[in-house]
Amino acid sequence: MKLLIDDADVNAIRRLIDYYPIDGVTTNPTILARSGRSPFDVLGEIRSIIGPEAELHAQVTARDAAGMIEDGRRIAGELGPNTFAKVPSVPEGFKAMKALVSEGVKVTATAVYTPLQAYLAGKAGASYAAPYINRIDNMGYDGVAVACAIHDIFRANGIACNVLAASFKNSQQVLELAQYGVGAATVASSVIDGLVKNPAIDAAVDAFISDFEGLVGAGKTMA
Ligand code: E4P
Repeated sequence: MKLLIDDADVNAIRRLIDYYPIDGVTTNPTILARSGRSPFDVLGEIRSIIGPEAELHAQVTARDAAGMIEDGRRIAGELGPNTFAKVPSVPEGFKAMKALVSEGVKVTATAVYTPLQAYLAGKAGASYAAPYINRIDNMGYDGVAVACAIHDIFRANGIACNVLAASFKNSQQVLELAQYGVGAATVASSVIDGLVKNPAIDAAVDAFISDFEGLVGAGKTMA
């Protein structure tokens, strides 16, 4: 499972890229609005931080297919080859997905709440479909189960599309999808930090260091 950062905070992205094995960054219009900056300025800066090989996913904002296609072309044209235009999985979006894919633009189908949206997106040529795990949970359904069902539908039908699970609020949701082996998860910076935040881990590492310093002297290491 690839791991992406769902954020447009360039300082958080820089820090997480430095520490963790990160495959890319996703944004959405709400996340970009939070940055308070010009959208393509911040997206360009994110691209320069993550480098040309990492994935960058940016969302179209037009309401109709013609506008989504224009948005998608600009996103793909300005942000480098490993960029994906996120297109909502609604009727106008499916029309836009087919057109963008036929032009060679990589597409991530977003706003996915049901397996059938993802099925249509995969058939329209999207590279990823992004089910919103926590938002589905909040509706009283099971977000992880929806993501796993989508993964199975792609495999059962020979559809070359992967799950890019999104909207996480806790480590358990990430863990269950990693165990199932879905294609990718995009996770907010605070939730990525929480993946390894555990007092037992810190206590174990501290005990090793103090035992070792007891042998060789305070501040001394293996080097
Ligand atoms: C991804 O495609 C979504 O835009 C995003 O993950 C939604 O996350 P949220 O439910 O935390 O807003």
